[in-house]
Amino acid sequence: MENEVKLTAGAMVTLGLATAALVVLPYIQVRDVKTPEGLKPYTSAELRGRASYIANGCVYCHTQQPRDKSFGPDAERGWGRATVPADYVYDKPHLLGSMRTGPDLMNIGVRQPSKDWHLGHLYQPRAYVPGSIMPSYPYLFDLKDQAEEGDEVLKLPPGYTPANKVVVATPEALDLVKYLQSLNRSYPVLPTEPRETAGAPAEAAAEAAPPATPAPAGEPAPAS
Ligand code: HEC
Repeated sequence: MENEVKLTAGAMVTLGLATAALVVLPYIQVRDVKTPEGLKPYTSAELRGRASYIANGCVYCHTQQPRDKSFGPDAERGWGRATVPADYVYDKPHLLGSMRTGPDLMNIGVRQPSKDWHLGHLYQPRAYVPGSIMPSYPYLFDLKDQAEEGDEVLKLPPGYTPANKVVVATPEALDLVKYLQSLNRSYPVLPTEPRETAGAPAEAAAEAAPPATPAPAGEPAPAS
């Protein structure tokens, strides 16, 4: 009997420690996160596009978490500053991702603002990036003999439009592109906590970081 008691007690302590480390502490760290001034909530069209991003598995190949300069060359790749928890306040569920078969997309709206490019690239990535291994998403488009009023006809590079047809974006494709265009975390944010002052009193950290100065890693992504 004594062993069962020890076993149960041990299990409870392990569970308690794990809950504290993985649930309670992270919650305390992020519960007071304030919405950055530069971040706008998603519109309903963008939210529909986000659902389509999830449904089409974009997250399996694309991350949304540029890393700090000390962890990798993401800023040099033009993917933007390292993100902070506040960048994700409207992201439910978050789409951080864990695989980078393709580039990080957290700032794709800054890097590639063109609707025509996004639509064409979703229809046929190889039309824009020769040898791209990204899948094409033809079912997000309709093939028509003739465009009707209000149709968004794709302007594809020569040779990619099927003969005697026009390629028309479905509402789902348009929403998905609106979502991609909205991905922009280039506004400045305060540094989380400078590494040098980690552990120092809060006032010292605040002084070291005047509010108007963007984080060292907080320069906006190059807008090209
Ligand atoms: C099998 C992996 C894979 C999947 C799934 C995938 N992509 Fe990609 N994606 C890539 C690769 C590889 C590239 C780089 C080559 C290119 O631009 O086509 C890329 C490039 C991109 C780019 C251009 C990025 C840049 O910096 O120029 C965008 C935008 C994009 N993908 C959006 C999407 C969306 C939206 C989806 C879901 C509908 C998706 N991708 C699904 C692999 C993938």
